Amino acid sequence: MSKKSTSESVSEQVEALRETLRHHEHLYYVLDAPEVSDAQYDVWMRELRALEEAHPELRAPDSPTQRVGGKPKEGFAKVAHSRPMLSLDNAYDETELREWDRRVHELASEEKIDYVYELKLDGLSLALTYEDAQLVRGVTRGDGEVGEDVTSNIRTIRSVPLSIAANKLRASRLPKNFEVRGEVVLPLAAFHKLNAEREEQGLAPAANPRNFAAGTLRTLEPNIVAQRRLDFYAYFALEERSYIFPQQSESLDALATAGFRVNPQRGTARNIDEAWQFIAQADAMRESLPYEIDGVVLKVNSRALQDKLGFTGRAPRWAIAYKFAARSAVTQVQNIVVQVGRTGKLTPVAELTPIPIGGTMVGRATLHNADEIARLGLQIGDYVTVERGGDVIPKVVEVLLEKRPHNARDFSFPTHCPVCGSAVVREEGEVDFRCINVNCPARLRESLLHFAARGVMNIEGLGEAVVNQLTERGLVRNLADIYSLDEAALLSLERIGEKTAQSLLQQIERSKHAPLDHVLLGLGIRFVGERTAQFLADAFGTMDRVMEASAEDLERVQEIGPRISTAILEFFSVPENRTLIEKLRAAGLNFTAEKKKTSSKLSGLTFVLTGTLPTLTREEAKERIEREGGTVSGSVSKKTNYVVAGEEAGSKLDKARKLGITILDEAALMDLLERARL
Ligand code: IVH
Repeated sequence: MSKKSTSESVSEQVEALRETLRHHEHLYYVLDAPEVSDAQYDVWMRELRALEEAHPELRAPDSPTQRVGGKPKEGFAKVAHSRPMLSLDNAYDETELREWDRRVHELASEEKIDYVYELKLDGLSLALTYEDAQLVRGVTRGDGEVGEDVTSNIRTIRSVPLSIAANKLRASRLPKNFEVRGEVVLPLAAFHKLNAEREEQGLAPAANPRNFAAGTLRTLEPNIVAQRRLDFYAYFALEERSYIFPQQSESLDALATAGFRVNPQRGTARNIDEAWQFIAQADAMRESLPYEIDGVVLKVNSRALQDKLGFTGRAPRWAIAYKFAARSAVTQVQNIVVQVGRTGKLTPVAELTPIPIGGTMVGRATLHNADEIARLGLQIGDYVTVERGGDVIPKVVEVLLEKRPHNARDFSFPTHCPVCGSAVVREEGEVDFRCINVNCPARLRESLLHFAARGVMNIEGLGEAVVNQLTERGLVRNLADIYSLDEAALLSLERIGEKTAQSLLQQIERSKHAPLDHVLLGLGIRFVGERTAQFLADAFGTMDRVMEASAEDLERVQEIGPRISTAILEFFSVPENRTLIEKLRAAGLNFTAEKKKTSSKLSGLTFVLTGTLPTLTREEAKERIEREGGTVSGSVSKKTNYVVAGEEAGSKLDKARKLGITILDEAALMDLLERARL
């Protein structure tokens, strides 16, 4: 091949890479709608840099390697930064890191150079301006020169001080006018909670916390932003005149003193070996941190040396971002299977050609729900990008359409439960399909635990250990089977002696007298909680009448709307559920509501509630006591008969002890109530 054609093909390659990068930068920085993972982006960028370095004649001022970021998008007022907000150069392995360290020493012509190490939080950088110790402006990075004024949103972030108290300012030695730069992040807990809410609302989940934080900062409704629980970590203080803090480490301490959140995972290394040790530690702690990080930042500690080292076009020479191994990879979807969760929820899962991601082999990735498959436009056989975030299960984040094989095929969501074969339902406005057969083997364990729980059928002793064994050994295949258990069957289980077996059988026997609302609650009908079950029992009086009720009948009952009535109708429309009810009837369960709602078994007795009970709320406990005729009072006196104490019970408990009043825990209260009822 001639020299000319080689350089031509290189220049074509360079131009193609630039185009690709520009396209994705636009999607990422301007539209907040990335289509490729950061890892993929980094790969292209590195390729381009390498080519430009090898062929300096191809360099161009408009190359994506020559600028900081994308253009800021319209919407918020644009504000020029006091000084450009730069990016950082990256090192992807130890060799590259040591190479940087070598250059720093060379350029600084110093032998001993201290580095400050900080976590590289995966969020968005932000510049906060304080005038006269008051927050006046919060500006996003934008293209590094001009950002967006998002002050109204920033003010809602609790870790951003709105003003700095005079004493703190003095202690920190910060001037009255200063600028702070740092990272806005959405902590993982908030991210998971918000995504769960989105799923409940039928919205597609956000791909990662950073995208969610970016979208949030651009929200025009500050009170929505306030609910999102964004966080801000400061990592720079900028001063107008020459340095107040000759070292970056002092500057960070000053920010912490002034009341900013400064990441505690930081320190000073005397050389690159010490810094490397921290990097290894950070990689190990990555999974357990409450937010996502994508690396470690090293900064030359001395500000004088920083000045000496200066900047390249886009980044300081005195700092480097060590990036952790990619958390995403491209692989092929071999099949899509559907799993049934403990609550009956159907989750589609992609079976992948196994691939290592961040040190773990990944062979499966969640697809969340049917809508997500549609949103991704995924077909079986597609190549996809799979991402493994902090503590989450791997997920498919995008389909590489250009790689779609000709034999790729559509996936159709099952209409019947893959485990038990009964029809699945999707309630209006919900994203998930569910199996609502209580006896579906996938659900049975959970159904049994719920049925036996305290406050439901109160079958003490039918806890996880026993339920696991009963279902695994096939001794119980549906809820009603527990009523045909005998001593021999129970004795065949591990860790169950004669005494335990007998008491469990007694508990099971006793549960047959449980009131109708408890039975209704025990069935585990979606949205039918304690209150609704009680209303249903009161309104219809018998199980049969509940089963026969129409949507209209149901919606006449207090607090029952179309959502609940649909769930009830669907429940009774499943043949397996009707069979179950007949079996429960045959076992002798109580299918008739007590005439009188309140008894007088506890009349004349006064109770005081204190502390937090393990399962009941205060209100629930009060309601139950009053239902049996008892009185609940707010303070302990000689007239008090019982004090019901939960966790963190305070002075009331002390007083009760002094007065010699009987103290009950939740279990004892339940027993008392149960006895009152019989
Ligand atoms: S210093 C001039 N420190 O990483 C240096 N950046 O890749 C500017 N980042 O835009 C950045 N944690 O959004 C710095 N402790 C940290 C950081 C950090 C996260 C982000 C920041 C920056 C990007 C550069």
